[in-house]
Amino acid sequence: MNDRMRPDLKQTVFNGMVTCSPRMLSLFELIRRAAHSDVTTLLRGESGSGKELVARALHAEGARRSARFRAVNCASFTSEMLASELFGHVKGAFTGAVGSRDGLLVQADKGTLFLDEVADIPADLQGRLLRVLQERRFRPLGGSVEKQVDIRIISATNTGLRDLVAQRKFREDLMYRLRVVILRLPPLREREGDLELLTWTLIDRLNAKGGRQIHRISADAWDAMQSYPWPGNIRELDNMLQGAFVLGLGPVLGVEDLLPELRGEAPPIDSIMLSTGHPDRPVTNELDALERRQLVDAWQRFGGSRGKMADALGISRSTLYRRLREHELV
Ligand SMILES: Nc1ncnc2c1ncn2[C@@H]1O[C@H](COP(=O)(O)OP(=O)(O)OP(=O)(O)O)[C@@H](O)[C@H]1O
Ligand SMILES: [Mg+2]
Repeated sequence: MNDRMRPDLKQTVFNGMVTCSPRMLSLFELIRRAAHSDVTTLLRGESGSGKELVARALHAEGARRSARFRAVNCASFTSEMLASELFGHVKGAFTGAVGSRDGLLVQADKGTLFLDEVADIPADLQGRLLRVLQERRFRPLGGSVEKQVDIRIISATNTGLRDLVAQRKFREDLMYRLRVVILRLPPLREREGDLELLTWTLIDRLNAKGGRQIHRISADAWDAMQSYPWPGNIRELDNMLQGAFVLGLGPVLGVEDLLPELRGEAPPIDSIMLSTGHPDRPVTNELDALERRQLVDAWQRFGGSRGKMADALGISRSTLYRRLREHELV
């Protein structure tokens, strides 16, 4: 079998998103339409599928583009920190609050606030967020005067909010307020032609850095890449290629450059389950045990470094944090 060269692919680039998939082109059209209104929008998509890029595109394509875009990850803060981050605080609101500070709501006034991993917003902040959505009003921590802002709110989740509502972990009224419009990002495996296009786009970017130069993909490696489900989507592909540029040698991307899962060295099922965060994920004790073991292994291997663990597992830091919490490891 011959190595694969870069094919001539017809690509579209929209606000940093590269694609040749008809499903993505339809999504770009929906983004353009949704950008013209101020409607509160929920983005659904697997980990690493580009939710933040879509949020930025909604901002950049709309009338608020000249004001600020602010993003916050609701999974990576404690409740108090997230409240302070969002609402700001007045001087003396808590120990260490030596001055007053505007929160993201004020910083994003006239612009857009992006709430990533909104499913993880702590229960005690859900009511306050609802008020922001209903009235665009809030009170900074320790403050007595309410503030009013004019912001568009975009949020994102890779788990279904409805399931959380059923489990009483998420307020139903908040769910309806957040998902006035829902935009769904297809996973990489459902974007026809994009695995090849994105692989070469990312290889071109990495070639331009001047280290290893990759010009071909071996037939075996390409086979393995095509049959892999890419649960961590574009981020996982990017991380894998970055690793190949640092550790590998020569002009051909070979099987030895691929993630162990693609080489069939690890039971793929547990990493898929670990990475998808999908509501339909079949939960069995055996799978939970596998997932937990994988987390513990990564923890030991990287001395608890979240960044390195997330990279090795091909998931985002926030997904990692959520998984660690689910398994009561943090
Ligand atoms: N269509 C695309 N073309 C090029 N790069 C992309 C595309 N989609 C995503 N990326 C890149 O993949 C990475 C992941 O994208 P992003 O952070 O937007 O995903 P996400 O869905 O927010 O992920 P997470 O669920 O992990 O927060 C980023 O580096 C982004 O630039
Ligand atoms: Mg994100």
